[in-house]
Amino acid sequence: MARTQLSLGFDDPAGAAGGTAAALIPPNPTLASLRSRAADCTACPLYKNATQTVFGEGPAHAPLMLVGETPGDREDVEGHPFVGPAGKLLDQCLEEAGIDRAEAYVSNVVKHFKWVPRGKRRLHQKPNAMEIRACTPWLAAEIALVKPRVLVALGATAAQALFGSAFRVSRQRGEPVATNLAPHALATVHPSALLRTEDADRAEAIRHFVDDLRRAARALRREAP
Ligand code: URA
Repeated sequence: MARTQLSLGFDDPAGAAGGTAAALIPPNPTLASLRSRAADCTACPLYKNATQTVFGEGPAHAPLMLVGETPGDREDVEGHPFVGPAGKLLDQCLEEAGIDRAEAYVSNVVKHFKWVPRGKRRLHQKPNAMEIRACTPWLAAEIALVKPRVLVALGATAAQALFGSAFRVSRQRGEPVATNLAPHALATVHPSALLRTEDADRAEAIRHFVDDLRRAARALRREAP
């Protein structure tokens, strides 16, 4: 198991000087104080077109942390992570894997919805490296406070932000990742990717995703205090 580096904003002193949310992290933060400061975050331009900051949610010392990419349209409107179609599928798959979402802290690498208009719809856009770098101090602070025993990255954006830019979900999904962010860590695909999978292949893709989540569930049980 290769030990990965912390990446992007996590250990980026140059970034801390400007252009990231690092300067907004309060001294001796709590999840409540982080959430409150993040509500006014302007570290990158995404706040301009988003309804609100969508901060992570879950128990303060959740044994499991799930990290996605960015809030989507529903999340932006409701102000909670993973409550839209991808979140509903995630909930079903967690249940199938024997994981209670209520025991997980759920967050995203980037905390504002990035979108472009397509007719009446708001089409999700992938955050760029600058936006990711600007936002990761929030996620780093969440991880430092929650101290999850098991950390799961959902999709390539989260996997690369957490485990380094060389990480490839296509090759490394489901495998244990050695990181100083958590005793157990792994990455899998993003549930949105499952929703985009061709009908004929979707059931198999979902089974594979549930298998990855079962690995996280086993790590949770092994590590249970
Ligand atoms: N996709 C994500 O990565 N996060 C959400 O909160 C919703 C959809």
